[in-house]
Amino acid sequence: MNHHFLLIVHLLSAAIWVGGHLLLVFAYLPKALREKNQRIILEYEKKYEPVGMPALALLVITGVMMAYKYGVSIENWFHFETSVEKVVSVKLTLLLITVLFALSAQFRVIPKLKNNADKLSEMSFHIITVTVIGVVMLVLGSFVRFGGI
Ligand code: HEM
Repeated sequence: MNHHFLLIVHLLSAAIWVGGHLLLVFAYLPKALREKNQRIILEYEKKYEPVGMPALALLVITGVMMAYKYGVSIENWFHFETSVEKVVSVKLTLLLITVLFALSAQFRVIPKLKNNADKLSEMSFHIITVTVIGVVMLVLGSFVRFGGI
């Protein structure tokens, strides 16, 4: 598939993934914490999930396809040897951490948060970490056009 097309899909997905999380961190999370109302977060998550998860899946698919076009295939991953391969390997590591946080939020935190506003601080930690990782992934991606890291 055309690299430019993959990049456009990658950028649109990044806008949805990072933008959605920044909106949560800067608009919904402070309101939920101020009002001690976990429902604000739970309702946002419910609406965002059907858009956010496909965006993350597209980021991985288009990212891996572009990595192949840069000559970074699966047998080179995690060697941390060449500049673009380093970007790809760090991004894949951060992706794994994101997935672990998403699973922890989904199966550990959210079920308890439904009946207990005290879990808001743990949920905030999950949300802020995933958002910061998303921003770091975006910044890392921007390095590729300058030759990698
Ligand atoms: C939260 C997840 C991710 C975000 C927010 C993200 C964001 C970005 C952004 C903003 C760019 C810059 C494109 C440009 O310079 O115009 C980029 C490039 C890139 N990303 Fe990602 N990315 C993510 C995940 C991934 C993953 C999982 C991979 C692959 C393993 C990947 C591989 C790449 C590659 C190879 C490029 C270079 C494309 C090019 O400049 O031609 N990304 N990414």
